[in-house]
Amino acid sequence: MTDRTIISVAGDPGYDIAVGPGSLDRLGEALSPGVRKVLVVHPPTLGARAGELRTRLMDEGRREVLLAEIPDAEQGKRVEVAAFCWQIMGQADFTRTDAVVGFGGGAVTDLAGFVAATWLRGVELVQVPTTVLGMVDAAVGGKTGINTAEGKNLVGAFWAPRAVICDLDLLHTLPKNEAVAGFAEVVKAGFIWHPQILDAIEADPEAATDV
Ligand SMILES: NC(=O)c1ccc[n+]([C@@H]2O[C@H](COP(=O)([O-])OP(=O)(O)OC[C@H]3O[C@@H](n4cnc5c(N)ncnc54)[C@H](O)[C@@H]3O)[C@@H](O)[C@H]2O)c1
Repeated sequence: MTDRTIISVAGDPGYDIAVGPGSLDRLGEALSPGVRKVLVVHPPTLGARAGELRTRLMDEGRREVLLAEIPDAEQGKRVEVAAFCWQIMGQADFTRTDAVVGFGGGAVTDLAGFVAATWLRGVELVQVPTTVLGMVDAAVGGKTGINTAEGKNLVGAFWAPRAVICDLDLLHTLPKNEAVAGFAEVVKAGFIWHPQILDAIEADPEAATDV
């Protein structure tokens, strides 16, 4: 892999996944030109970085960028949290041509995707996963959802993102246990499709899991 890789996902609509250090640079251009308001959904752990993202997305005042800090991990995947996001969007007069950015692990991208899928029956979504699991699984594929008291992921929608941006620099602060947990999905992909993934991990497990 070169420093920056683009993986095109076929479909209707298809979308690109940008992978590599520094690929967050692409976030502004990943949004449709007509987007004027953006809701960035993020967990408390990424509050400072979400603030930086906001500045980057404002595009010198051409866009209004709102931040929705949601509870961490599974606590964020609740209908009350979706309603909190819908409230921010309603109060800001979010239209069909505005956009949601999911900035966090799989729990955040699931919730942000669900909010984008349901507001006005669907608005633009760009996913910026910040965990290994989010990058290799949760933020790609268009599955979104929330939990109910009865179980995980019982309510949701299929909603394809316009783009997925996997900036590997974001992984530097990820706790080791979270990184290793995400690698289980990488190993799974090795067993199912690409044995060369297993070869690379077996050759140097430390290097392969060093984020
Ligand atoms: N939609 C799908 O297809 C799909 C697929 C697999 C999993 N999922 C969902 O993904 C969720 C799990 O995702 P996860 O493993 O990413 O967990 P997570 O989203 O709960 O994140 C794990 C922890 O890491 C923290 N974190 C995230 N990014 C960080 C960073 N860069 N630096 C420091 N800390 C950071 C979070 O605040 C959280 O405490 C589950 O809800 C699961 O249902 C969805």
